[in-house]
Amino acid sequence: MHEFLRDLPKVELHLHIEGSLEPELMFALAQRNGIQLPYATVQEAKDAYHFSDLQGFLKLYFQGMDVLRNEEDFYDLAMDYFKRARGEGVVHIDMHFDPQAHLQRGVPLEVVMAGLLKAKQEAEDTLDLSIGMIMAFLRDRPADEALHVLEQAAPYWKMLDAIGLDSAEQNNPPANFIDVFKRAQQLELVCVAHAGEEGPAEYIQEALDVLGVERVDHGVRCLESQTVVERLRSEQIVLTVCPLSNVSLKVVDDLRDHPLPKLLAEGLKVTISSDDPAYFGGGMMVNHIACAEAFGWDEAVFRQLTRNAIEEAFVTLERREELLARLAAV
Ligand code: HPA
Ligand code: ZN
Repeated sequence: MHEFLRDLPKVELHLHIEGSLEPELMFALAQRNGIQLPYATVQEAKDAYHFSDLQGFLKLYFQGMDVLRNEEDFYDLAMDYFKRARGEGVVHIDMHFDPQAHLQRGVPLEVVMAGLLKAKQEAEDTLDLSIGMIMAFLRDRPADEALHVLEQAAPYWKMLDAIGLDSAEQNNPPANFIDVFKRAQQLELVCVAHAGEEGPAEYIQEALDVLGVERVDHGVRCLESQTVVERLRSEQIVLTVCPLSNVSLKVVDDLRDHPLPKLLAEGLKVTISSDDPAYFGGGMMVNHIACAEAFGWDEAVFRQLTRNAIEEAFVTLERREELLARLAAV
C-alpha cells in the first residue's frame, strides 16, 4: 500500500505555504536575518506544536512566519516544500499564501510575490510539479483591508488562480467579505474559502451563496446539515479535507472518528490535503498512510480521491489530461 500511495500522482488542493515552514528552515532563516526565536532548539519548536484549537495554532503559525523577510526567504520556503512534496510523489499543489500576514510586519507584497513566483517557475521548469496560486485573506481582519490588498495586487492578478479566505473562522462569517469576493469575480479569479472547519455548516452555505465559492476548504462540518450535504452533492462541490490538520486542531478527537468515510458515503467530492504540514505532523504521504490505516481504504478509494483532486486542480487542460493519464497508468 505504501508503494502504491507513493506512486499515485498526488494533487494537493489545500496547502498554506507559510504552514510548510519546517523548524530547521525557520532556524536557518532566523540566523540569516538576525532574528531571535522563542525556541532554543529545533526540538523545542517541535515540542511546542501541540494545539487545543485553530486559534492556538494560528498564534504559532503567525509567529513562525516572522523569519520570512526577503524575497530569498519566500523562495527558500516554497522550494523547500516543493522538493519535499515532489519526493513524495506530489505532481500539483494549489498553494494558499497570506499577504496580509506579511504586510502587517512591513514586508512588501512585491517581496512575497517575487519569491513565491520564482519558486513556482523553477518547480514547473525543473521538478515536473505544477503550482496554483491562491491569494488568501484573513477573515479576522477587516474586509476593507482585504479589498485594499486585492487592489494593490493588480500587477499580479494575471498570475493568480484564485482568492481564498482563512484564519479564525468562529464568529467571522463569510458574508463579511462579499465585496472582496465580488471584486475577485469581476477580475475572473476563482473563489474558494475555508468553511465548516471550526465554524458551522451554515458558513458553508453562506460561502457558496454569498461569496460564490467553487471550492470549500475543509467543509467537514457539512454533515451537521442535510441541506448543505445535498447542496454539495448535487453540485459536486469539491471539499479539500485535511485529516491530520483536523486531528491536530481537535476538530476530531481521533482520526478513526473522522467524518471522511461518511463524506464519501454521502457521495461528496472529497480530496485529501495536508493544510500546514510543518505543524500538523507531515505532508501528503503521511496523510495518505494515516487514512489507509485508520479507515482501511483500498486502492480504489485513493484513486477516486486523486481523480477528484486532478479534476479540480488549477491546471491547464493539457496538464489535467496528462495527470489523469498518469493516474490511469499507476
Ligand atoms: N484554518 C484556517 N486558517 C488557516 C489554516 C487552517 O487550517 N491554516 C493556515 N491558516
Ligand atoms: Zn487551511
